[in-house]
Parts: sequence; structure tokens; C-alpha cells
Amino acid sequence: EELSEVGLSCCRLDELKTLPQCDIKLGKLNFSETHTVLIDVKSFSCGAIVPQDGRDLWHSSFVKIPCSPSSVSTKPDTQFGPVRFKSQSSPVWRWSLISEQLRALAKKKAAKAEEVEKAILRYNPSYERVWSFDALPRYVKNDIENLYEKLFPKIAALALKLPDEVKKAIPLLQHHKPASITLSQGQISCLLANAFYCTFPHRNTTRSNAEYHNYPSINFSRLFGNWSERKNQKFKAIMHYFNVMTDESECRPRTVDACSRDTYVAGESKPEGLVTFERRRLDEAETQTWRKCTHTLHKLHVTSEGRIEVEGAQLLQVDFAASRIGGGVLDSGLVQEEILFLMNPELIVARLFTEKLDKDECLIITGTQQFSCYSGFSDSFQWLGPFDDHLERDEWRRLKRQILAIDACHFNHPMDQYNMEKVKRELNKAYCGFKGHHSHEEPDIATGKWGCGAFNGDPELKAVIQLMAAAKAKRGLAFFTFGDHDLCRRLQQTYRLLVTQKTTVGQLYRHLEKYCALRNKSNFHEGLFDYLRKTQMAGAAAGSRPAYLHKHTGTK
Ligand code: AR6
Repeated sequence: EELSEVGLSCCRLDELKTLPQCDIKLGKLNFSETHTVLIDVKSFSCGAIVPQDGRDLWHSSFVKIPCSPSSVSTKPDTQFGPVRFKSQSSPVWRWSLISEQLRALAKKKAAKAEEVEKAILRYNPSYERVWSFDALPRYVKNDIENLYEKLFPKIAALALKLPDEVKKAIPLLQHHKPASITLSQGQISCLLANAFYCTFPHRNTTRSNAEYHNYPSINFSRLFGNWSERKNQKFKAIMHYFNVMTDESECRPRTVDACSRDTYVAGESKPEGLVTFERRRLDEAETQTWRKCTHTLHKLHVTSEGRIEVEGAQLLQVDFAASRIGGGVLDSGLVQEEILFLMNPELIVARLFTEKLDKDECLIITGTQQFSCYSGFSDSFQWLGPFDDHLERDEWRRLKRQILAIDACHFNHPMDQYNMEKVKRELNKAYCGFKGHHSHEEPDIATGKWGCGAFNGDPELKAVIQLMAAAKAKRGLAFFTFGDHDLCRRLQQTYRLLVTQKTTVGQLYRHLEKYCALRNKSNFHEGLFDYLRKTQMAGAAAGSRPAYLHKHTGTK
């Protein structure tokens, strides 16, 4: 408080730069060696969204698509009761089995949960005794409007469009290979309809020797078993998404018309735009420069009210991710990342092609739509209903929403984090995502207690790490403490002190080295903010000149 008269304090939220304020020149949408575009770019420049032609690639660097001619399975023997493999029979095209089942469902006005289960098991016969479908009939029973039974056929019809919707092979966003994929919201819905019906081949096991063991799961099988109220609420969000994406009526108001250009296909009522998934990696050379970094802290807005995806919606929104993107969204997980994925279900498709993130990698997703709103968190989470997304679209018809997935370290033992290797890892991970690509035309960042819930991080340490990464990237931060008033107040104080003393990122790095060394002594339990306050004050008192004019402030 002694320093408050200096007046260097946190800023207001509206002083931060939002995505619509950024003048990012995208240029004409085009594909390149590292940017795959699954729609035809020529038609796109004339205003139409048409799938890009291409050929199937049954290859380890591409998504194995269910309708691929190379996807074969042994025809199940259904003559006598339950499905059984005929060991001697010749292989059949798996898509013919799938489409037979989905066509039968699609013809119906309404389908029962049991029919959905039966269809899925027909082309996944080895999982008959492995997968549980107990939750599915219970979801349906709770559905007072009978919407789900009518939706099952529509989702099947959407899944059946796959051969027409996605003709070009989808590359995998692999480990250490920065690359992007742009596809349409319609294509995403078709891929997700296939995920719902568990059609993706080679994606049902996560055993360590499995082909896709380094990838998140994509088939929805886990959502159908082990009923819980959590899953019930999740299912509502997912079914609402499919309800919007399969709605063929033309009278439904467009959710995006306020900001669309006048190029929509006539009669189209579904949201139609593009989404880009970009895997980034930090240059090795940049991971070593923390100690020498002379940047001082950038803008900070701290608040205990509000949420990243609401008040921070127009900033770069941080997803407190798992290294396998989406974490437990298709299972029972229900914290920040899973909720984000349920409100913006298009994010789920990242699981189809994004290999586990390494320590120096992140995924940035531009253009996903928010379909739902919610209340609560974890066990108290509730799907509240539809959300009308009114964000503007950019030149590539992507909604101006940018989500940054960065996975913090999971500390089984909280003491493990007071270690400079771990601190460096977190600095580099945050910086990999915060670092801008278009100089000075990047929105500021909305974040909060990254890595401090399920992953056991220390909020004070993580806040300082994120401040350092943002300072190095020269971007402002909006920090949402999610109801934590104490952290909010203390972070404001700490920030003011650091700004007043013009503490650099390099100096903070050296403070962290000392702090970690102390934390590893058995009798030292001081929090990082208190430690910084004491050392900074001591530094300031050490000479008549302000501490920041000393060369090694606070490190003696
Ligand atoms: N806005 C701001 N802060 C929030 C929000 C929000 N919308 N939601 C939660 N918080 P957590 P982690 C605060 O545990 O520790 C998932 O399974 C809230 O205080 O989700 O990085 C992933 O897939 C919460 O306690 O993040 C990973 O596997 C804190 O942020 C794993 O969890 C941390 O949220 C990541 O865990």
C-alpha cells in the first residue's frame, strides 16, 4: 500500500485490446504445405462453401476416415442371435456396414436408445461386451420434449453425408509439426455426427501399443455408459448442438446474421462459416532466454467476477487444457476445459486429429461457435439452454473467437512445482501460446487459475509465470480469479509493486530461482507474493536510488 501513490495499478477490462479491434490482414484464403483447407478455396472466394475435392489417404499421417475404401472389417454373422464374427468370412467394406445401419436409422421419424446401441455395435462388434450403453436410455427418459429420439435419425443422416462432405484427406496435427487445418462448420458437424455414432476406425482403444494411443479419443462411446447427472447435463449440451446443426427449417432465425457478409447460400439456415485449428511450437532458441529478458510487465486487469469465456470472450481465451486436447469431455470430466468444449462443441473435432501436445506446443482454434450457456462447475454444472452467438466474422468467415489450448503440468505432489525445470516448462508453454504472429495486431489474453484446479498448481506462482510470459509476448492479460477475492486483491498488490519497481522478466526469473531453492527447505512455507514483496521492499530500501536502477535488483 505504501506504493499506491505512484498510481501504477491494474487497468480496466475495456483498456485491453479485443479481437475485433485488431486489424489482422488475412489475405485470400489459400492452402499451403502447412495449411490444409478442406473446402474449395476458389468457390470460397466467390462466396460459396463447397467441400474440396481430393482423394482418400489411408496413411499414418492422415485421419483414417470411416468411409475410406481401405477400411474393411469382417462381416458380422447375425444369423443366430447376437452379433458374432465369422472367422472364415471375407472382409467387407466397413462403410457399407455402417451406412446400412445409419440409413435404417435415418429413415425413421424417431429411434429408441436401444436401436442406436444396436446399430453402433453392428459395426463395432468386438466392443459388444466392452461398451456400456446404460446411460443412453436414461438420457432419453429424462428428455421431456422427446427431442432425442427424433434427433437420433437426423444425426445418422448427417453422419451419412461424410463421403460428400469430406473428400480431401485430413492430415493429423502431429507432434512437433506446426500446421493448420481449416474446415467448415458443416464439415465439423458431419465429422462429429460420425463420432457420435462411433464410426471412426482404429480409435476405440487407448492401449499403449495402439496406433492412436497418443491421441485423444473421438468416438462418443464413453458418453453412453456409466450414467451420472454430470453426463446427463453434458448430453443436453451435445444434443442441443446437433439439434441446431441438423435443423433444416428455413424459418429458424440465423444466429449469425448480424455479422455475416451477404454471401450465404440461399435457403441455408444453419451456421455456416469456417474454423481453423493451428498447432504451434516454440523455437528451441526462445526457450532459453528468460534470464536475459529485459521486458517489464505489460497491462493487467484482475477481477474475481466473471469468466474467461464471457467477459473475456473477445480476447484470446485460454483453455486450461489436457495434453490430449479436450481432456475428459467425452467421459466424466467436467471442469474448465470440458465445459468450454461442451459450450463450443466444434472444439471436440480437434480430438480427431491433434496428437498429444508436447511441452513446447499449443493449439489455437479460431472461429468456433458457442451454442449453449451453463451454470455451475463440476458436479453443479447445468446446461442452461441455447446461446445466440453474435460475434463478428473475419475475412475467412470465422467467428472472431480465439481459443488457446495450453496444458499445464499436473502436479501429483504440489511441492514438485517449486523447481526451475518445471517453472521453465510452464513459462515456455504459456509463451508458446501467448506469442503473437501478427506484430501488434493480436488481442490481449483472458486467463485465470491455469493449472490450479485439477492440476494442483500454486495460483501465485502460476499468476507470476503467466505475467512473465505475457510481458515477453508484449500482450496484456485479463486475469479472472473465478470468485477468489483474496487472490484478486493480492495479485493486484503484487502487480503494482512489480510495475512500480520496473521489475523485468529476467529479474523475476532470478527471484523465482531463489524462491524455489527456499521452498525446498523444510522450514520455509512463505507464499510467492509475500516473498516478492519482502525482497522487492528490501531491494528498494537498500539504496537511495529506486531499486530498479540497481543492476541486480533483489537477487543479492
Ligand atoms: N473462467 C475463469 N476461471 C475458471 C473458469 C472459467 N470459466 N472455470 C474454472 N476456472 P481446471 P487445471 C478456475 O481445474 O487445473 C481438465 O480435465 C477455477 O478456479 O479446469 O489446469 C483438463 O482437461 C478452477 O479451479 O484447470 C485437464 O485435464 C481453475 O480455474 C485439467 O482439467 C482451474 O481449472 C486441467 O486442470
